[in-house]
Amino acid sequence: MKNSTASSDKIMLEVKGLKVHFNVRCKGLFGAAPKVHAVDGISFEIPKGKTFGIVGESGSGKSTTALAVMRLLDPTAGKISLNGSDISAIKGAELRTTRRKMQIIFQDPFSSLNPRIRAAQIIREPMDVMKVGNSEERDIKVAELFTKVGLRPEQLALFPHQFSGGQRQRIGIARALASQPDLIVCDEPVSALDVAIQAQILNLLRNLQSELQLTYLFISHDLGVVQYVCDEIAVMYLGQIVEQADRVSLFKKPLHPYTRALLSAVPKAQTKVARDRSGRLEGDPPSPIDLPKGCRFAGRCPVAEDKCHAEEPFLRQIGEGSHHVACHLVSESGF
Ligand SMILES: Nc1ncnc2c1ncn2[C@@H]1O[C@H](COP(=O)(O)OP(=O)(O)O)[C@@H](O)[C@H]1O
Ligand code: SF4
Ligand SMILES: [Mg+2]
Repeated sequence: MKNSTASSDKIMLEVKGLKVHFNVRCKGLFGAAPKVHAVDGISFEIPKGKTFGIVGESGSGKSTTALAVMRLLDPTAGKISLNGSDISAIKGAELRTTRRKMQIIFQDPFSSLNPRIRAAQIIREPMDVMKVGNSEERDIKVAELFTKVGLRPEQLALFPHQFSGGQRQRIGIARALASQPDLIVCDEPVSALDVAIQAQILNLLRNLQSELQLTYLFISHDLGVVQYVCDEIAVMYLGQIVEQADRVSLFKKPLHPYTRALLSAVPKAQTKVARDRSGRLEGDPPSPIDLPKGCRFAGRCPVAEDKCHAEEPFLRQIGEGSHHVACHLVSESGF
């Protein structure tokens, strides 16, 4: 029987009602200060050793979510817990210590690595900051991490520009692993890479996860990529989660018209969605400053009804598992 307190069930990251609103400089009508609703009330949790994916078009709030989770941005509202501790409002020394328990891998490994520092030092830096072991032990650990991510020992003395894009992302991964973080946030980690290299990096992330029990928050605009690496997936639209499910359910039975439209545009995603029924995704999302009343997707939704423009749909559970959807037209048994 499954024990609910087993370490595999331990929740590493819990996000509840997270909001991140940005103030806009110019004044709105009647003097009200307009706000960008970048992240607007999202909740999810990631068990240790699992990968939670966030997918959505550009501007849906994915990177803002990542930065808020890392506490590189202050949340406007909501709660973030890492390994059982509430980190939503911590400051100063406590915040600096906590940030080291989380590492982020960015889309562009070139701009995120200091061009004047050799690969060995880039990987070693987090261990120096945390004063892990003595100098010799750190050298050994750097060499170990280097081979673990598939690089050759003689490359340790090279500078970032002497590596290919895929190799630079491997350095970024080794650096992220150096401090043995509780959580690794991957923000579009393969979007800047050629397709063949993407697969290598995704395989590396998967292999490292099973070897080291890593926990990932994995962000991508690409459903094919998310399908390859994620256990549970949230689809984000204009700062909100509109659908969430385990990987199999989401691709087998996508319910939200936005998810279906996204899927129909991705030939690479393995899905049975009938492409003609889903509708193509046309137009742009509305401004995150002046949000429409009702469903935020209504202006682009091929099946919108009057009710959709008047009433906001909320996330609700569909069926037995973790499948949730925010759409008026989805019934208890699905679309
Ligand atoms: N610092 C900021 N100030 C104002 N608006 C921002 C800021 N950062 C992001 N935004 C806005 O918040 C929304 C979400 O952005 P982002 O989280 O980067 O989306 P994604 O990563 O999904 O492309 C966008 O409308 C973006 O323009
Ligand atoms: S609530 Fe209405 S507009 Fe929104 S996704 Fe569902 S059908 Fe489309
Ligand atoms: Mg982004």
